[in-house]
Amino acid sequence: MRPAHGYLIHQFLSPFSNVRNDEYGGSELNRMRFAIEVVESVRAHWPASKPLFVRFSVEDDAGWGPEQSVALAKILKPKGVDVIDCSSGGMRGSPVVSAGPVTYGYQVPYAERLRKDADIMSMAVGLIVHADQAEQILQEGRADLIALARELLYNPNWPMDAAQKLGVDRQFGSVPPAQAYWLAKRAQSVKSVVPSTYMKGLSNG
Ligand SMILES: Cc1cc2nc3c(=O)[nH]c(=O)nc-3n(C[C@H](O)[C@H](O)[C@H](O)COP(=O)(O)O)c2cc1C
Repeated sequence: MRPAHGYLIHQFLSPFSNVRNDEYGGSELNRMRFAIEVVESVRAHWPASKPLFVRFSVEDDAGWGPEQSVALAKILKPKGVDVIDCSSGGMRGSPVVSAGPVTYGYQVPYAERLRKDADIMSMAVGLIVHADQAEQILQEGRADLIALARELLYNPNWPMDAAQKLGVDRQFGSVPPAQAYWLAKRAQSVKSVVPSTYMKGLSNG
């Protein structure tokens, strides 16, 4: 589920957009009601064996913030939500970063907050670009999962590349056998050559 970024469910959550005066507007719990009902309905239809992720705009800079997100996550967890995917913004513009400038991992503090204060698994997203950066976020216990969007557009082989850089897949088991054979052979036999993603070029690596 993706109720972030000013999409319909977030429009109910945020006091900026929700001006209703029925049971779906007004108090914080009333504004959460639609999101809760959608989760209940999705969970009722989605197989129990499959995880349910919900994306939040943890901070929308328009009256909905981390405190409200933690409160909603605490309600959704016992209803069968497994992971909160932590993004921000979407109501006034994008993105919103109360924790610092828009740079590497700028939304990680939101994933960290949800994980710690709502005791639910969280997913970090937003300018997570490098393999060691992603690994560090996980190792430091700031998030349970990492999501990438634009870096995968830039480098669709990112998972393979990251596995090499982290030294966890020397036989290229994450790619089809026909590719794995040639890549493992090159890696083992020509040690002086590194992949193009490891340096800018022969002259300025
Ligand atoms: C092509 C594209 C489509 C996206 N579509 C959605 C979307 O439908 N809903 C959403 O919440 N975020 C969407 N996003 C945002 C990404 O999920 C992600 O949160 C954002 O790009 C920041 O992560 P990044 O720095 O790894 O790209 C999209 C991003 C891209 C590049």
